[in-house]
Amino acid sequence: MCGIVGYIGTQPASHILLEGLRQLEYRGYDSAGIATLWDHQLQIVRAEGKLHNLQAALQNHDSPAHLGIGHTRWATHGKPEVRNAHPHKDMSGLVAVVQNGIVENYRELREALQAEGIEFVSDTDTEVIPNLVARHFRQLAAAGSAPDSRLLEAVRLAVQELEGAYAIAVLCVDAPDEIVVARQQAPLVIGFGQGEFFCASDTPAIINHTRAVVTLENGEMARLTPLGVEIFNFQGDRLRKQPRLLSGTSLLAEKQGFRHYMLKEIYDQPGVVRSWLSTHLNDNWRADAADEPAQVAPYPHAQTPVILNLPDELLNDLEQVQILACGTSWHASLVGRYLLETLAGVPTQVYYASEFRYAPSPLVRNTLTIGVTQSGETADTLAALEKEGERRSGLGPEFAPRLLGITNRSESTLAHVVPHILDIQAGIEVGVAATKTFLGQVLAFYGLAIDLAYRRSSQSHEKLEALIAGLKRIPDQIEQLLREQDGAIESLAHQFTETQDFIFMGRGINFPIALEGALKLKEISYIHAEGYPAGEMKHGPIALLDSKVPVVAIAVPGSVYDKVLSNAQEAKARDARMIGVIPDGPDANMFDHYLWVPIVDELLSPLLTVVPLQLLSYHIAALRGLDVDQPRNLAKSVTVE
Ligand code: F6R
Repeated sequence: MCGIVGYIGTQPASHILLEGLRQLEYRGYDSAGIATLWDHQLQIVRAEGKLHNLQAALQNHDSPAHLGIGHTRWATHGKPEVRNAHPHKDMSGLVAVVQNGIVENYRELREALQAEGIEFVSDTDTEVIPNLVARHFRQLAAAGSAPDSRLLEAVRLAVQELEGAYAIAVLCVDAPDEIVVARQQAPLVIGFGQGEFFCASDTPAIINHTRAVVTLENGEMARLTPLGVEIFNFQGDRLRKQPRLLSGTSLLAEKQGFRHYMLKEIYDQPGVVRSWLSTHLNDNWRADAADEPAQVAPYPHAQTPVILNLPDELLNDLEQVQILACGTSWHASLVGRYLLETLAGVPTQVYYASEFRYAPSPLVRNTLTIGVTQSGETADTLAALEKEGERRSGLGPEFAPRLLGITNRSESTLAHVVPHILDIQAGIEVGVAATKTFLGQVLAFYGLAIDLAYRRSSQSHEKLEALIAGLKRIPDQIEQLLREQDGAIESLAHQFTETQDFIFMGRGINFPIALEGALKLKEISYIHAEGYPAGEMKHGPIALLDSKVPVVAIAVPGSVYDKVLSNAQEAKARDARMIGVIPDGPDANMFDHYLWVPIVDELLSPLLTVVPLQLLSYHIAALRGLDVDQPRNLAKSVTVE
């Protein structure tokens, strides 16, 4: 997390840096700061809280400087206070640094520097870096090293001493026409403009200025000057890298009249489903066409119901699927597991990436490993995928890694880690709480499950055709839900603004939706909430219930409908206030309140049941007056372990 940005060129740097930070604020918003260099003076302006505080602070510090670095912080080491905000400088004020990541050995480094008489003013891990760089810089100067490469070499020597995952940008008073950057396990792109150059944690920070970028790889560093960019590895070898052109737009979307991005993104969902269906459904496929291939139009994929553009060697003869993800993406993966097992009959495991990376499961032959991450930058998911790739390589074809990513950011680091991507193309999601990207990830699993079911002949063509027909109705059904439910859910939300605990329960394919409903509520409203499989309530959690604890039960017609209703009765008998996510009908009367959903094939129901839960959390949080789009302590992209 944390966003870093740097600029060197002909324009006043602080405006460009501030604008870049605005595009990176999703990465962290505890505090922010900017360092500029002008006339051999380092000016550092920092502010606690959101970026507008930094903007206000900068009004008293206008600087004509043409180079600088900026940072927006998600606190790891040290509270979100001005003294812990970046940029940090060394004790003598020679060097300033911004960092995204964690220096894991900072304690030893700090103690060693303190023993040399260096005093620290922050609680951060970062502050060791400018001190290390400054020390090497002075030693190189004393040894008479070439001034042009002195800062580059000082940073190169400093990074040899760092352990952890980081991206840094460095300014030095005695190297007034350059920025040096380095990357190790945290994203960093360099932008090439006309006589101006940029660096940033992510492309939205620079796309307003240039589309020509180079993504640094782990163990690479660069020197940016007004004349150009030189790239090196940590061994000091010069590298030649061709800029690539960014496609599409990565700029922040507008709120389009909605009060918050999250609400807009909930309303974007019918469009996300429509666009996914139009991209991936094969209109030429007919359930009865398989026996008469000659009658099918000459089309490369005429025989498959969905078009995913994934190679056969990735998907054929699978013995297992394993899915690695975190948070909401983990919930989407649980829905995915249900679909892959039920429709395609492939044994499927879902792991928290943060657990898998240190305790991977025993190797199974012919395994497809899927990393699910909307941002494509989640450190744990990337590390777990890398680990899986490494441990499988060299073991022969049956164990060869088959890696696939599901993401909303096809240009993210994920694309460097896995060879195949399913791009959910949900459009930029600004709200930190994932909504439309969750739906997009779940849709990708429908596509994969249908494709695999077709390849493995595990379902009749008629069943697949019916499922696809049901999928095509989903966008209208979500629209209807939004139209008819949003106002009612907002009114209902008034009753729960002071509630302290919520329970969500569901079974089967809707158990992950109970987990997701609880996560959405806790992350944006700060109300304690838990999701349970409804059948598990009586094994412990039911002890929590009384008249103060609302229980949300997801009860949709299908294999476990009666079971969920019985579990809901058990909760009601303990005086819990019952909220049903249930179709209209007599069964709805057992609930104190109910959030209506259309009747669909149970397998498709998660695409609808999640929507009222998103709205409920949104309205409760908004009525509590909270910052829905940037909830406390969270960030959109979790690039630290
Ligand atoms: C919840 C949320 C987080 C993310 C998690 C993984 O609304 O957004 O739980 O789902 O941090 O993020 P990605 O999907 O980017 O790997």
